[in-house]
Amino acid sequence: MTLSSHPKFITLEGGEGAGKSTQIDHLAEKFRSLGIEPVLTREPEGPIRDLLVRGDARWAPKSEALLHFAARAEHLEAVVQPALADGQWVICDRFADSTMAYQGYVQGAGPGFVSELYDLVVGSFAPDLTLILDLPVTTGLSRAQARKDGEDRYERMGQTFHESLREAFKEIAKLNPDRCVLIDADQGIDDVAETIWQAVSSRFDL
Ligand code: TMP
Repeated sequence: MTLSSHPKFITLEGGEGAGKSTQIDHLAEKFRSLGIEPVLTREPEGPIRDLLVRGDARWAPKSEALLHFAARAEHLEAVVQPALADGQWVICDRFADSTMAYQGYVQGAGPGFVSELYDLVVGSFAPDLTLILDLPVTTGLSRAQARKDGEDRYERMGQTFHESLREAFKEIAKLNPDRCVLIDADQGIDDVAETIWQAVSSRFDL
C-alpha cells in the first residue's frame, strides 16, 4: 500500500494556543521526509473567517455554528474533497470537533444541534484521525495572547469559557476513541511532535 494511493484526512484540534500550527509544520516535514507533500489547510477559511474570529461577539450560538458549517461546506467542496480525490493527504487545522466543542458544548448551541448539522452538511465523511492537543488553559492563553494578529475574538472569551472548552475536547476524545487521540501538548515542541508522529505512524501503513 502506498501513501499516495490511499490519501487520508487528518485533523488537529484543541483550545487556544495549543500549538497546532507548529505541530502541523512538524508533521508536514515528516511526510515530506517520506516523499509526500501533504495539503495543509485550516478552518474556518475564506471570507466567513473574519466574521467569526475578529471583533466583538454578535452571533447567537446556533447562528455561529451555522456560519462555521457554511465555511466548512465551501472548504470541503473546494479544497478537501478535491485533494483527497487527487490522491493527496490532507492535514487540517481544526474541523467539526471545534464546532462541537466551542459552539455545541460551550457556547450553548447544543451537541444535538451540531451533530444534526454535521449529518446534513458533511454526511458520512469524517477524518481518518483527529489529534486533540491538550494543555492547561493558562499556558495556551498566554501563548495565544502573544500573537498580535487581531484574530482574538474567541481568545477573549475568558478563563471559564476556556476551561469548559478543554473539558469539551476531552469529552469528544472519550466519545470517539477510534478516531481521536488526546495528545499531551504540555511538553517541549519536539516531544509533542514525536508523540504525534507515533500516533500517525502507528495508525497508518507508512
Ligand atoms: P484558529 O485560531 O485555530 O485559527 O481558529 C480560529 C478560531 O475559530 C478559534 O478560536 C476557534 C474558533 N472555531 C470555532 O469556534 N468553531 C469552529 O468550528 C472552528 C473551525 C473554529
